[in-house]
Amino acid sequence: MEHPTPIDNEIKLSNKRYIVSKTDAKGIIEYGNDYFVEISGYSEAELVGQPHSIVRHPDMPKIVFKMMWDRISQGKNIMAVVKNLAKDGSYYWVVTEFEPKIDPITNEIVSHTAFRRAAPQEAIETMTPIYQKLLEIEEKGGMEASEKYLRGFLEERHTTYDEFVNDLIGNKGLFKLFFTAMKKIFS
Ligand SMILES: Cc1cc2nc3c(=O)[nH]c(=O)nc-3n(C[C@H](O)[C@H](O)[C@H](O)COP(=O)(O)O)c2cc1C
Repeated sequence: MEHPTPIDNEIKLSNKRYIVSKTDAKGIIEYGNDYFVEISGYSEAELVGQPHSIVRHPDMPKIVFKMMWDRISQGKNIMAVVKNLAKDGSYYWVVTEFEPKIDPITNEIVSHTAFRRAAPQEAIETMTPIYQKLLEIEEKGGMEASEKYLRGFLEERHTTYDEFVNDLIGNKGLFKLFFTAMKKIFS
């Protein structure tokens, strides 16, 4: 499927609504809630069966998705701040978390569900230059170079990726509450 050309138009998400999507183990979309359909600008039929990279924004560095897949393919969660691309080329920022479904017999991952809400403005402002830098590094030295940079960035701040994102998102209690509620609804 052709990717839209990004236009500099931000979609402001509601703080009261959540974008939920479910994929198979490889990231092919199986389900998207109404808000995902509304914000992405794709119909449900256009989304289902497509790889989730259908909403990938070219401003996102590859290393973020590598970290994400490393984590979720072990059945673990990761919180990430992501800039996504809508069908018309506009963009929206989300904070996302994941929930895997594990086959109780084979122990294999059957599906992943992502729960997203609007990213706080401060998180967007902090991540924008970091992602720009990671992207620049990737363009020259590939993902190996951006991974090294990210390690250095976190070491210098005596923090881990998870702590850094958690501190940035704040409202941890509220987010946890939301995530627990979403898991109950969609699992
Ligand atoms: C449940 C789930 C949700 C995802 N949501 C997004 C998303 O909102 N935006 C995005 O760019 N990638 C998302 N991805 C990651 C994509 O599958 C893909 O790895 C990413 O867009 C990078 O594209 P690439 O792997 O083709 O380089 C998601 C993956 C899973 C399993």
